[in-house]
Amino acid sequence: MIKVTRSAVIDAPIGVVWSLIRDFNSHWAWHPAVGPSRIERDEPADQVGCVRNFALKDGNRIREQLIALSDREHFSTYCILDATLPMRRYVATVRLSRVTDGDRTFWHWQSTFDVPRGREREFAELVGRGVYEAGFQGVRDWLRANGGRPWSMRDQGPSRDGGGIAEAIARGPAAGRARGPVAGQAVFVERHGGPDVLALRATSAPPPGPGEARIRQTAIGINYIDVYVRKGLYPLLTPPAVPGMEAAGIVVDVGEGVSNVAPGDRVAYACAPPGSYATVRTMPAAPLVKLPARIDDETAAAAMLKGLSAEYLLFRLRRVGAGDTILVHAAAGGVGLLLCQWASRLGATVLGTVSTEDKARTARAHGCAHPIVAPDARFADRVLELTSGRGADVVYDGLGADAADENLRAVATTGLWVSYGQATGPLPPIDPARLEARSISLARPVLFHFTEDPRRLAEMSARLFDAIERNLLTVRVGGRWPLGAAADAHRALESRGTRGSLLLLP
Ligand SMILES: NC(=O)c1ccc[n+]([C@@H]2O[C@H](COP(=O)([O-])OP(=O)(O)OC[C@H]3O[C@@H](n4cnc5c(N)ncnc54)[C@H](OP(=O)(O)O)[C@@H]3O)[C@@H](O)[C@H]2O)c1
Repeated sequence: MIKVTRSAVIDAPIGVVWSLIRDFNSHWAWHPAVGPSRIERDEPADQVGCVRNFALKDGNRIREQLIALSDREHFSTYCILDATLPMRRYVATVRLSRVTDGDRTFWHWQSTFDVPRGREREFAELVGRGVYEAGFQGVRDWLRANGGRPWSMRDQGPSRDGGGIAEAIARGPAAGRARGPVAGQAVFVERHGGPDVLALRATSAPPPGPGEARIRQTAIGINYIDVYVRKGLYPLLTPPAVPGMEAAGIVVDVGEGVSNVAPGDRVAYACAPPGSYATVRTMPAAPLVKLPARIDDETAAAAMLKGLSAEYLLFRLRRVGAGDTILVHAAAGGVGLLLCQWASRLGATVLGTVSTEDKARTARAHGCAHPIVAPDARFADRVLELTSGRGADVVYDGLGADAADENLRAVATTGLWVSYGQATGPLPPIDPARLEARSISLARPVLFHFTEDPRRLAEMSARLFDAIERNLLTVRVGGRWPLGAAADAHRALESRGTRGSLLLLP
């Protein structure tokens, strides 16, 4: 992903510069590269969710949507919906701040986006110089030509502005809240069943109510729990409804009483209720975590649910460290690769099961000292061999049914068997006498109970982000699909063909 940043000082008060910038349809008047422009559906040009449809003077066409705007903090964020230029996932933020010396304005303009391989430099230059630097100069020129006065409704004409600025000033700090639903798309589970029950539909995200936030999503994490939900194994949704528990994106607007996030924040989450397989979503704000600048959206969506799971499994359920031997099933999977890396960094010896030699290589490269190729879940003999008959201190079991007996053999006396998933089917009832025979503890934890408390969620996320930033953890994205291809992504996950984390890209 390319990141372009430019900044400039404009010799005019912040209110004057902001009057131009906050009108999403003023750029035709001051940007030298922009031709005719209109706001679709006659919406006000400062309404979050409005779409500007314009031509560049070189003939290209672009549709951009305003996704956040704050009059209090002087910023706006927008994204490209479609363009004749080969730019994907373009999200930009313009932010102004006051330069007290001389009552001038500092203008920061930043974006991230993808372009075809090999054209990164060309487009970084085009956006940085041709759009941002030219835009700074364009505003200076417009101000000079207009005697340094603010932009006003008259400049736009009555049919184009819709009363944006005057109305916003009257509305005060609450300005920037979208007033109606924001149109989008979401993948629905039409009925419980196989991957074919997933279907893309048009939807809309309602304005956030008290305690809620509306998010424009940029990357969505796929998890094995989504398969259980789709099949109806976990009764977390009643079809037709949208699955998914993890995503990253930008806050569009927030409802009453929300203080942990604000419009324009980059955020990620891993939580119930399901609903993340969507371009835009309104949801409880409490589980949203602000992203540090160095964690990009894809990494966040790939790491939030699986990384927070690794965090509680290694630091909270039982603290793992030097001297421990652990066994990780599906060691090359999404959670598996993170568990292997983090546990080995903590000094533990990591054994892991995988179904192929290829996956064994991936697991080894991520801290699994002893990958065991066991596609049929027969691994206990090899675990006992590698541990001189002792077994593993902790067994991390996301397999369930097919591995139950082998897990009981592979776990050490006084050890811990963590049954935290069921990719092969639900764990059958375990007779406590079989645990008592060697003082084995059996745990059946769920991430969402560990993240219920906002303070603990903040601690867990901070530890995860820190581990990523310090390169203790590499987040491997093993597959990306467009949102509409969610069924293909589920097929791949269930076929055991994937490694690392999987993403849907809206
Ligand atoms: N309780 C919690 O808090 C919590 C939180 C997060 C995840 N989880 C659990 O963690 C596990 C891993 O989740 P993930 O999203 O990272 O998935 P994943 O590990 O990337 O994918 C599942 C892996 O399971 C293995 N597997 C073995 N038998 C399988 C079968 N019959 N069908 C499908 N897969 C089979 C496959 O690896 P091989 O081919 O190498 O065997 C497959 O790649 C899941 O069980 C999930 O439910 C639990």
